[in-house]
Amino acid sequence: MTRYYLAPLEGITTHIFRNAYHRHFCPMDKYFTPFLVPHSKKGFSARERREILPENNEGLYLVPQIMSNHAGDCLKTVGKLQAYGYKEINLNMGCPSKTVVSKGRGSGFLAFPEELDRFLDEVFAGIGNTDVQISIKTRLGKEEPEEFYDILEIYNRYPLKELIIHPRVQKDFYKNEPDLKIFACGQEGSKSPVCYNGDIFTAEKCEELRQRFPEVRAFMLGRGILMDPLLLERIKQEAGDGRAQAEKFWRFHDQLYEDYRALGMGDKNVLFKMKELWCYLGQSFPGREKTLKKIRKAERLDRYEAAVEELL
Ligand SMILES: Cc1cc2nc3c(=O)[nH]c(=O)nc-3n(C[C@H](O)[C@H](O)[C@H](O)COP(=O)(O)O)c2cc1C
Repeated sequence: MTRYYLAPLEGITTHIFRNAYHRHFCPMDKYFTPFLVPHSKKGFSARERREILPENNEGLYLVPQIMSNHAGDCLKTVGKLQAYGYKEINLNMGCPSKTVVSKGRGSGFLAFPEELDRFLDEVFAGIGNTDVQISIKTRLGKEEPEEFYDILEIYNRYPLKELIIHPRVQKDFYKNEPDLKIFACGQEGSKSPVCYNGDIFTAEKCEELRQRFPEVRAFMLGRGILMDPLLLERIKQEAGDGRAQAEKFWRFHDQLYEDYRALGMGDKNVLFKMKELWCYLGQSFPGREKTLKKIRKAERLDRYEAAVEELL
């Protein structure tokens, strides 16, 4: 059976989003937290704690994600997550952001294969015989897709729970097409189970990838779900009629909005969160640019609500 995962999207797939999604749409087999960066504080910050607290993620299979290039720091965070009961942890080797890459983290780490190997060696030695399993979410390299051959050799030295491949390089950011040729080589050459991630925006695209890579058993959906939260229903052919789809969509929207308000983060922050999401959700409303603009421009919750009502 094919499995589907919700991609981590920093600032967007918060526990509020994950729970609202899980409640109103076709549940995902796995959810990932946006990246946690190790720090020297003893526990987690209030925001981090909210993300990973088991009672905030009830009924969801959640994999916390760490972004680090320092094995000692990474292991400390692994230990903290184990204390909350997590047994699967994902390492971020994919983030293309300049601030991250300039510190040799995320996809920036891929430019330093020896350090990467040493890091993984220390991390796997550090987790030893505990029951925690490590998966990796990776791009193909920093500059050229062919860098992945050497990187895969490194990954193959470790017993990864799973290797999630977004077949772009750092310098692509989100431009260009995912490199399916190199993904195919990676999928064939990987000793760990592989999950595909990247540009699955329609059910047709997903089916095309499933046909082309029948051995791949897991697909991770990111922006596609933000643009069309019913995407997994469409993939599984369970979307129902237009009315049922609209009802689900608005129940999900209202839940998100209410739950963000209930966090007590202040109206400005609630608006920011909702507008950020509408940058993607707006794609589900072709021809409604005028109303979408009102949503984007809303500076108060009542204006936001009125604009959303208009869209309804
Ligand atoms: C706004 C935004 C935030 C992201 N945050 C993370 C993150 O915290 N961790 C991570 O591994 N990937 C992150 N990603 C990358 C996505 O998880 C995913 O790999 C990428 O969007 C490609 O998949 P898609 O085409 O299905 O969206 C982020 C992407 C975007 C657009």
